[in-house]
Amino acid sequence: MADRYAPIGVFDSGVGGLTVAREIMRQLPNESIEYFGDTARVPYGTKSRATVTRYSKQIIRFLQTKNVKAIVVACNTASAYALEEIEPQLDIPIIGVVKPGAVEAAATTQNNKIGVIGTQATIGSGIYTQTIHKIRDDIEVMGKACPLLVSLVEEGWLHDRITDQVIIRYLAPFFDAGVDTLIMGCTHYPLLRTAFRKILGDEVKLVNPAYETAKELGILLNKLNLNNDGALSDKKPTYEYYVSDAASRFMDFADSILPFDVRNVSIVPIEDY
Ligand code: DGL
Repeated sequence: MADRYAPIGVFDSGVGGLTVAREIMRQLPNESIEYFGDTARVPYGTKSRATVTRYSKQIIRFLQTKNVKAIVVACNTASAYALEEIEPQLDIPIIGVVKPGAVEAAATTQNNKIGVIGTQATIGSGIYTQTIHKIRDDIEVMGKACPLLVSLVEEGWLHDRITDQVIIRYLAPFFDAGVDTLIMGCTHYPLLRTAFRKILGDEVKLVNPAYETAKELGILLNKLNLNNDGALSDKKPTYEYYVSDAASRFMDFADSILPFDVRNVSIVPIEDY
């Protein structure tokens, strides 16, 4: 029986999954987190299903050495490509970011027109469309890969004329189609929320899979009696960070989006797992 005071394993292709970790910290403040960012092998969004699945399995094997009680696939691409294959092979709960985002979008749309943006892999996989159509098949789902946005976020250009221009160009088909709901289906995109809001106006609802995933995780842990109830009050939640390369670059990005400084980031030889 898993220990409810054990940490949650969270992983992503790099820094982007910190948007998911941040939501877990906010919504589930008793939970400890072991975060792995695959900074040596990022991006996943241009890689094949087989490669992303192999990487994800290695990371999960590593996280299991930390005795995690559950795993969150904080990467849209890994959720799209690897989760379905991995889930039945694990004896601890695992959730990805796609389903919670898709469920919320299906509940939000009023005109049955949803736009999804993400990496080439996520959009090419059709996963958001399939997941939404399992809930309701009368919803029209339009996808658009927006690969440049990841680099712009990592460059820190969150409020920048050039980023705005890139967003306008990517989102033009959604304006024409009249979508009323947009899923920010890539870890980095929630950091562009202000830019999206400015460009899209208030009529288009933004769905943040990171937020929905943390909410879903809370429900799942409660259901399985795996939620840290805070009874061990002398034990504060701990956050540990691991990467496969370039720890200081990871630390800089983490410092820019988390509400505290990240001091210890360990490098893991992930190919050994
Ligand atoms: N974390 C990835 C995702 O959410 C974006 C970056 C990448 O391509 O690896 O799909």
